[in-house]
Amino acid sequence: MNTRYANIIGWGKYAPANVVTNDDIARYVDTSDEWIRARTGIRERRFVSDDETTATMSTEAGRAALDKAGLDATDLDLIIVATSSPDYLTPPVSSQVQEALGATNVGAMQLVVGCTGFVYGLVTAQQFIATGACKTVLVIGAELISRWLKPEDRTTYVLFGDGAGAVVMQATDDPCGILGHVLGSDGSGAEHIIIPVGGTAMMPTHDTVDQITIRMNGREVFKFATRVMGRALREALDHAGLTIDDIDLFIPHQANLRIIEYALKQVGLPREKVVVNIDRYGNTSAASIPIALCEAFDEGRIKPGDTLAMVAFGAGLTWASAIFKLGVTIPALMQMENADADHV
Ligand code: ACO
Repeated sequence: MNTRYANIIGWGKYAPANVVTNDDIARYVDTSDEWIRARTGIRERRFVSDDETTATMSTEAGRAALDKAGLDATDLDLIIVATSSPDYLTPPVSSQVQEALGATNVGAMQLVVGCTGFVYGLVTAQQFIATGACKTVLVIGAELISRWLKPEDRTTYVLFGDGAGAVVMQATDDPCGILGHVLGSDGSGAEHIIIPVGGTAMMPTHDTVDQITIRMNGREVFKFATRVMGRALREALDHAGLTIDDIDLFIPHQANLRIIEYALKQVGLPREKVVVNIDRYGNTSAASIPIALCEAFDEGRIKPGDTLAMVAFGAGLTWASAIFKLGVTIPALMQMENADADHV
């Protein structure tokens, strides 16, 4: 029996200021605004500027989440950064973030699970809280993909964007947290999303330097995504003992609007219950769900006690889903409501 529950008490995001529209991209890539919008739903994305990295974006998002929670970095017990685009192969970016935030006496770890990393991170954080090992955990999803793309490959260049999102999870006696989840992996599809060079399998040399880039078999990933999204959502609902009607808000990985619409049809969810922001950010991989979650909180689309569903898929191939019941008390949401009331 789970006696220590985990609530989300703070959230924050960081989006680089540099907005890159489809027309901007079409100036140096063989593509068009019309093709990108019709095939993906993307209108624009953010690309970092030269002085930004995954660590700086993660730190900004993490700090915003801590501010929202009304906590200091020294209140944290654990920092989890989900990313597949860290500043370095080693050290882990999580330690850079820990240092930049000024978090002392914390554990910090990096989770490399492609686009599913943030949901894996939430599930991991909940385990540490449920066992009593940690009281307060910062979970960040961050990705800087633009530096791994090459304009010569239009099949990937148009899809991705940079950004970071974060939540603070904290132990509570109020029954809430992840009621059901699925974590999945099928390594037989590894070659469908891969950076072939730069790891220990193929070290970078003068001859291989061109292959330090994301290679993706879009059609295979598309088929995989449409296969797993609905299934992963239904399985997590089963584990939670809930049905689709119990979901207040669905926050899917933002990879392609057509994939999201397919999943909605499969599970029978109405459009007003889904968060879609791929038009403004593109696919930010592990950052996509936390950025969408932050926007939903900030736009007043989430109330205390709501049941959220999150589903992601990505490199590995991997997938992950979680049904998250929020606690009935979220001070940051009450403060937002009070501020709105004062405004009226
Ligand atoms: N601009 C213009 N034309 C293009 C572009 C482009 N950017 N890219 C491909 N095309 C062309 C192709 O060459 C092809 O032309 P042809 O018919 O003359 O051969 C045509 O458009 C159709 O190509 P498809 O690959 O069939 O296009 P599709 O409708 O499948 O869309 C896409 C491609 C958007 C990549 C889609 O397959 C997709 O979204 N797949 C999933 C990708 C995904 O989710 N990736 C994230 C994984 S998560 C992670 O961890 C990173």
